[in-house]
Amino acid sequence: MKPTSSTRGVLTDLTTPHPSPAPARPTGAPAEAAVSRGRRVSFPRLTAEEAAAMIENGAAIAVGGFTAAGAPKAVPRALAARAREEHAAGRPFRLRILSGASTGEDLDEALAEAEAVAWRAPYQSSRALRDQLNSGQADFVDIHLSHLPQMVSEGFLGKIDIAVVEATEVTPDGRVFLSSSVGATPSFLAAAEKVIVEINRYHAPRVSQMCDIAILPNPPYRRAIPLYHPMDRIGWPYASVDPDKILGVVENDQPDAVPAPTAPDDCSRRIAEHFIECILGEQRAGRIPPEFLPLQSGVGNIANAMLAGLGEHPDCPPFYMFTEVLQDSVVGLLESGKALGASTCSLTVSDEKLRRIYDNMDFFESRIVLRPQEITNNPGLVRRLGVITTNTALEADIYGHVNSTHVGGTKMMNGIGGSGDFTRNAYLSFFLCPSVAKGGRISTIVPMCTHVDHNEHSVQFVVTEQGYADLRGLSPLERARRMIDHCAHPAYRDYLHGYVRDAPMGHIRHDLDRCFELHRNLRDHGKMLPDVDLGAFA
Ligand code: COA
Repeated sequence: MKPTSSTRGVLTDLTTPHPSPAPARPTGAPAEAAVSRGRRVSFPRLTAEEAAAMIENGAAIAVGGFTAAGAPKAVPRALAARAREEHAAGRPFRLRILSGASTGEDLDEALAEAEAVAWRAPYQSSRALRDQLNSGQADFVDIHLSHLPQMVSEGFLGKIDIAVVEATEVTPDGRVFLSSSVGATPSFLAAAEKVIVEINRYHAPRVSQMCDIAILPNPPYRRAIPLYHPMDRIGWPYASVDPDKILGVVENDQPDAVPAPTAPDDCSRRIAEHFIECILGEQRAGRIPPEFLPLQSGVGNIANAMLAGLGEHPDCPPFYMFTEVLQDSVVGLLESGKALGASTCSLTVSDEKLRRIYDNMDFFESRIVLRPQEITNNPGLVRRLGVITTNTALEADIYGHVNSTHVGGTKMMNGIGGSGDFTRNAYLSFFLCPSVAKGGRISTIVPMCTHVDHNEHSVQFVVTEQGYADLRGLSPLERARRMIDHCAHPAYRDYLHGYVRDAPMGHIRHDLDRCFELHRNLRDHGKMLPDVDLGAFA
């Protein structure tokens, strides 16, 4: 299908895969693009403060980016300053904020500190905002990230007044070349009534060559997505917007400032070792093909240690990533040839690694595809490609349910993110976490999760530094025994075995008087087992 101004970016004909690789840039785009980069400006040039002044109290804004990668920076900072001024003058100023996922410090943290967030979806990871969500000061809707674009385009989440997005270029005819992420930005551009574009000169303009952007038509017009390999390309290197919606362009040159990962600690390394032992065992048993299967990994220390460990292991063959975020360790894996390519939504890497990518675009351009989250996290594609998924749990129960989001069942941590998109549809689904938290006061393996994000039907493996539990094909009682013996910390095993032994008979054995006893103990005594020796965890 040839894109036209009305269909550009929407996959209406999904029968023929787009030639791979996609054309880097439409003919004539570089000259046109220059107009928004300071030479012949066709959209009004705004300061961040002028742009922020266009956003009214109570507005619903959608911010581009995915994690800190590619999130707008200057306008949100100016919005936070504006909120402070308005509040000081005794006027209300609070916004509804939609994003692709988490954002950078300039956004959630700054706006929460300025008390400018009334409502937030679909994910966040800001300490300041988290406190407000948990104190009832701001509302939060926790959404599977793959669901968000369709919810936006169908209007489930209300009208979007203004989208604020980061790009490297925008052409007069509305082609928006995004920066270090795609996320839900194409859908926000399509749905928002008005648009402000931050042109960020920190990013290499060539980064858009990694982008493969397509918006799926809404049901009942949706067809199969013609993507059969993690590196297939099916879309265009730019997002589209009606240029009449653009209020103006704000120039900026701030880096994403994604923090560099800390070196893996001993616990993360041991979790990674157990995961690798398990996965290589699956391959030796013939349950993973010799060419391996694509990997998805969550973010954080454990994921980083797991990927680094896989990269170093001589028995692990080179693999592809089909994942939501690409983090620092993957850059090295791509360079060493251990990772053959990565399909992702964002380059969530430290500034040093991002520079490395930008300085070696000839190498990385064909090895990284940046896609919208509706496609990176698409349940059908995860199932089709046979993705091995690895995510982190706050707690898992002995029957294999997982809580990723709510501490003690009540306090929101970050949100479900993409973990459900991947887990439910995985070829092999893993949850990784330390067996204890807070110096041993908390067992992450509990009789019953206080909140369930992923249930026993989707969770196949749980891995802690103690070992791994393969839950496939096991009855509830067998699962409980395996979880306790392989994953729970030894200091909690007797309690957990005793719980199962003494619980009333049933297909799943639970004692409704005691299933949250560990959590109640934590609340009342500061430890899940009042007499546990914390010295044993030092
Ligand atoms: N009860 C109470 N607190 C717990 C806990 C439990 N069972 N388990 C962990 N914690 C605390 C830790 O002590 C730590 O506290 P601190 O910040 O005060 O040090 C905090 O929770 C984070 O734990 P940590 O072990 O550092 O894990 P993490 O940074 O790897 O994050 C999740 C774990 C679950 C919060 C995170 O992975 C997440 O938000 N997941 C959901 C989204 C997701 O999976 N995204 C990826 C999909 S692509």
